[in-house]
This record gives sequence, structure tokens and C-alpha cells, in this order.
Amino acid sequence: MSVVTIARQGEIAIVTVDNPPVNALSQALRQGLWDAVGTLDADPQVRAVVLICAGRTFIAGADVTEFGKPPQEPHLPDLVDRIEGAAKPWVAAIHGSALGGGFEVAMGCRFRVGLDSASVGLPEVSLGIVPGASGTVRTPRLAGVETAVDLVTSGKPVKATKALTMGLIDAVFAGDLQANAVAFARDALTRDLPPPASARPITPPDAGFWDDHRKAVAKAAKGAEAPLRALDCLRKAAEAPFAEAMAFERQTFLDLRGSDQAAALRHVFFAERAAPRPAHLKDVDPLPLRSAGVIGGGTMGAGIAAALRDAGIPVTLIERDDQALERGISNLRAIFDGAAKRGKLTEAQAADRMAGVSATTDYAALSDADLVIEAVFEDIAVKCAVFAQLATACRADAMLATNTSYLNPRLIADDLPNPHRFIGLHFFSPANVMRLLEIVPVPETSDRTLATGFALARMLGKIPVQSGICEGFIGNRILKRYRASAEALVRQGIAIAEIDAAMRAYGFAMGPFEAQDLGGLDIAFLQREGARAAGQDVPETLGDILVRAGRKGQKTGGGWYDYAFGDRRPQPSSAVADLLAGAITGATSMEGDAIARHLVGEMAAEGQAILDEGIAARASDIDLVEIHGYGFPRWRGGPMWAVNR
Ligand code: 3HC
Ligand code: NAI
Repeated sequence: MSVVTIARQGEIAIVTVDNPPVNALSQALRQGLWDAVGTLDADPQVRAVVLICAGRTFIAGADVTEFGKPPQEPHLPDLVDRIEGAAKPWVAAIHGSALGGGFEVAMGCRFRVGLDSASVGLPEVSLGIVPGASGTVRTPRLAGVETAVDLVTSGKPVKATKALTMGLIDAVFAGDLQANAVAFARDALTRDLPPPASARPITPPDAGFWDDHRKAVAKAAKGAEAPLRALDCLRKAAEAPFAEAMAFERQTFLDLRGSDQAAALRHVFFAERAAPRPAHLKDVDPLPLRSAGVIGGGTMGAGIAAALRDAGIPVTLIERDDQALERGISNLRAIFDGAAKRGKLTEAQAADRMAGVSATTDYAALSDADLVIEAVFEDIAVKCAVFAQLATACRADAMLATNTSYLNPRLIADDLPNPHRFIGLHFFSPANVMRLLEIVPVPETSDRTLATGFALARMLGKIPVQSGICEGFIGNRILKRYRASAEALVRQGIAIAEIDAAMRAYGFAMGPFEAQDLGGLDIAFLQREGARAAGQDVPETLGDILVRAGRKGQKTGGGWYDYAFGDRRPQPSSAVADLLAGAITGATSMEGDAIARHLVGEMAAEGQAILDEGIAARASDIDLVEIHGYGFPRWRGGPMWAVNR
């Protein structure tokens, strides 16, 4: 079947694109649209053209799977020019998302209309490239330079209603898109046509604009190259004639398309789409999730409850006594109030989030919950006591989950009736913000329960990664190796601050030691102490020496570094040097680059062991865990990708 079909409603032609799953601009689609322009230009009956798409979305962009191959004609910029230069005006009718090349095609049309639920954007920088078919050149002509800079350098799409106010869209409808677009086209024919986007004037910004934006974009890009190259293109568009700016954009696009960063970002793009859909669950229906319980309103419980509420799920919060319940409620309220203060929620939305929470100490309130997530202290006896209560309070088919970080979920499932509905759901702190969700089935977990874990991740907007059972699952196990390897470098004589600086230069927001100071050294210490008390042979770490000396991180005024009161900037510490002097046996020196390569290599080596043991299904899942749970720079593709380049 052809990916482009043409129908007519009187003087209006309707060009329908049908190229599942997302109408990406494959060679066949580009050719189909190219030919459609010729056909309709030659048809005297046709006075205007509506371009509309079948399926879930408008054209979602260039076909990313073609990026590794030589470009084939017709090239997208030529197609966009051809649509713009057509003898009849084209109207893009947008539903779903018009992204990247899809939005560039829409900007080649004389008009753009859309459903109010639609969105438009230029996400190319998130794939390590710049728009390659006039996105940096036509957008500032339609919406002004400042809006174009925001849109292109952030890569974030905007809703159609906002795009309307920006001048990127001409009309927004609710209801029947095709009928409204045809009516819009008929009406447009009764008036003078506006100039095409390429012919619109551009107002160059004030002096200083580019320097200010370069600083801001570099800061937000954190080492990614594409946003700054996109800014160069936008500057060219503001300062040079249309054709020169187009040539500059095309060259930049082609340069970046073959870059290491673009390859890494494409890898992450496909990894993010593979992880949520394990093949063996393809035909398994998830359970309905209409209401949830959360046990424990501490750091994690409050965050998990907030994530559930953000997804519209009513939550029952259970705590161990009234005082703890009060604290849990105020933890949750602080999350929503904070979001309202930062403008992420309106006051009304924040109030609605809280209104959907009922808080109690009585487990009987969970009698009809579809899902209960436990987030109480990391203590096996406490957790088992909680699940014993859940076993009697909840429906026999309710899904029960633990958020344990290190405990073996099998020990928790052991005494549970119907353990097929039990699963580990390991959220990351803050649970309403961090996108990673490790999904940890026990051998008894049913496929339906597992599929429901993945469905929950989708509802919460999280990236799910399935993990087998081992200490720390995928992420914390690699973290442990990373920290131990960083400590080993300190023992060899490399300065703590040099290691942190090396990892920051690599692209992490923080190095391993400053990150521990922020989170607190005591949690991992207590876990090691617990293992020691249970008879395991856990060697003394440098972190243990610091915690025993009362240095638990920023909260105690010092950890690996000293902190002046009220100042979060780490200062190298002579006290730490004295405490660790006996443990430092070498005087090695290493370049920052080599430090980073070594530590990423250590992460990947642990990742390989995790793969070999079958704990993770794919190397790309491990990359996702590091990127979405531990701040690994996305544009490096994750440790497994980075070491295999
Ligand atoms: N090219 C090729 N395949 C694509 C694709 C693209 N641009 N976008 C999505 N797909 C594929 C996915 O890999 C997935 O395949 P699978 O089913 O085999 O795993 C399938 O389409 C469905 O994708 P999602 O799971 O992401 O579907 P959703 O419905 O959740 O989301 C979407 C739809 C919002 C359109 C989302 O797919 C998306 O954001 N796509 C990427 C858009 C993008 O980055 N476009 C810019 C491309 S670069 C460009 O256009 C350059 C130009 O300037 C020259
Ligand atoms: P927390 O100490 O902040 O909160 C635990 C809460 O559980 C407290 O509010 C406590 O009153 C409540 N509680 C204890 N016993 C209870 C019982 N019998 N019934 C009801 N409530 C009870 O701890 P945090 O950090 O929220 O951790 C909770 C769980 O999440 C632990 O298993 C931890 O390992 C795990 N986790 C923690 C992460 C973190 O970064 N803090 C990240 C991922 C998982």
C-alpha cells in the first residue's frame, strides 16, 4: 500500500500520510510527498491541499533508522522547499506530534492547524544533531529569534495551544481535524495568502543576546555538542540570507549526524523504546490500576505517593503511628507545595493532588487497593511484618510490591499467600522525579504481575528496566563497584578532588565523593555494618573510616570534604587527609581523562558480570539504569556503550 494517498473534497485535495508506526519520513514517504506536489500542481480542479496523517500522530520526524546510511533523494530540505513553492497552498493538519522533520514539513506548508491535544517541536538536539531541513531557519521567521532559540536548543516540544501564541500554528481545534482543516483551507482561499515562512523577515536580536544565550545553553547542555551547534545555526539564520543559512544548517546537520554523540544518543533513543516492552509479555494484559496504597511516608514513600498522584491514581498512605503519619502527610504536602512554588503545578492542581490522598494507620483501608507499594525501613523483620498485615488486609489479587534497595525480595515474598502477585519495584530518590524504575520479579511472580509493573512505569512516565535478584540489583551493584574503584584510586594516592573533577569533566553533575557527601555516607555504612553483623566478610572501606569519625557528609558539616556553614561547595579537608593517611599507600598520578576512562571501565566490567549472570537482559538496559538513575551523561550512551566504542 502507498504511504501517501490523495483524495478530493471539491476544490480541496486531502493528502494522507500512512507510514506506521509514527509516519517517519522514510525515503518512500519523501518520494510520495514529492510526487503529490507535482500531481496536485498539475490538477486544475484543486485550489488548496490539506496534509493530514493516519494513525497515532502527524509526521514524527526523519526516519532515525536511516541515519547510519547514505542520504537518499529526495532530500528533506528540498521536499520542504517544494511544498512551500507549490502552486496551491498546503495546510498541515496536525494531531499527535509534529516533530523534527515532521514540523519542518509543516513549516513548509503555508498554514499549520492542529488539534488542541497536539504538540510541535524540534527535538533533534536530543539525538545529537540539529534540525536538518530548515528548522533553525524557518522557525525564527515564524516565531521570532528568542522563541526559536528556546525551542531548538532545548529540543522540548510545546502544546499546540502554546504554539498558537508563538505564531508557529495558525489555528487550533477540538473535534474533527480533517473537517476543520478543510473548512480552514476553504476560508483561507477567500483571503490574500500570507507570505511563505522563508520570505518572512527576521528581526535580529539586541547586542549581547548571543553571548548570553551561549552561556546559558552551554550550562544546560552539560557537555552535549548539538545545542551549541544549533545556536550557531540560529545565529546564522538571523544574520545571513535564507539560502546561506540553509546551507550552513545542512552542513552542520551532516557533520553531526555521523558524530559519536549522535550515535550514542540514537543508541539511548532505541534503548528507551526496547526496555519497556519485554517480548515475552507482548500478549499479557496488565491488571487494572485504579487505586494504590503506599506503606511508609518517609523519603521514598512520600515520593512514590506523589508519583502515583501525578498519574491521577488515588493513594492511601499508611504509617506506623499518628506522629509518623503527620510527618508523612507533611512530606507529601511539601512535595506538592514545592512544585506549586516552582510553577510546575497550579495551586488548584497541588490541592487536587493532596485531596486524592487518604492517610491512616489502619491497614483495613487497603481492602480494595489494586496495588500496594511498601517503603518502610530497610529491615527484613519490619518489612515481613508489614507484608503479613497486607496479606490479611488486601484483596487476594491485589499486587504487592517492595521498594527495598538491597534486601532479597524472595525473603519478603516467602510467607506471602499468592506470591505470584508480589514484585520488587525499586524507585530512585526523589521518586516523583527520577525516571528509572527497576522492576525485580521473584521466581513466583506471574507474567501478569510483571506486565502490570511495566504498565505502572508507563502510567508514571518512568523508564522501566527489569533486573534479576542480586545485591543492589543492577544500579546499586554498579554504584558499589564505582565507589570502591574510586576509593582504590584514593588509596593509590590520587586526590579525592581530582577524581571528582575528572568525573565532572566526563559529564556527570558530580563526582563520586561529592555525591556521597550530598546523599550521606551513613546509609551505605549501615548496610555494610549489617552485613558484617550477619557474619559476612566486608572489608573496611575509606568511607567507614570517615563515618566512624563522625563525618557523614554535608549534613554533619563534612564527609569526604569540609563544608562551611550554609555553603554546599566542597573544600578539600586536612582532617580527611589525616584520617586516611594510613590507608594511602601509593603516590600515583593520572590524567583526568584516564581517571574517567578507568572508572567507566569499572562500571562496564560490573555491567558485563551482571549480563553474564543474566541479571540484566541487555547491555542497553544497563546503560539506561546508569543514565536515568545515576546521572551518567546521556550523550555518552551509558557505560556499556562507551567502553565498546
Ligand atoms: N524514526 C524511526 N522510528 C521511530 C521514530 C523516528 N523518528 N520515532 C519513533 N520511532 C519508532 C520507535 O522506535 C518505536 O518503534 P518500535 O515500536 O519498533 O519500538 C515506534 O516508532 C513507536 O515509538 P514510541 O514508542 O516512542 O511511540 P509513542 O507513541 O510513545 O511516541 C512519538 C510517539 C512522540 C512520536 C515518539 O516516538 C518520538 O518522540 N519520536 C521521536 C521524534 C523525533 O525525535 N523526531 C526527530 C527526528 S530527527 C529529524 O527529524 C531530523 C530532521 O530535522 C532532518
Ligand atoms: P525513611 O526512613 O525516610 O522512611 C521510612 C518510613 O517508613 C518512615 O516514615 C517510617 O515511619 C515508616 N515505617 C516504618 N515502619 C513502618 C511500619 N511498620 N508501617 C508503616 N510505616 C512504617 O526511609 P526511606 O529512605 O524512605 O526508605 C524506605 C525504603 O526505600 C527502604 O527499603 C530503602 O532501602 C528504600 N529505598 C530508599 C532510597 C533512598 O534513596 N532513600 C532509594 C530507593 C529505595
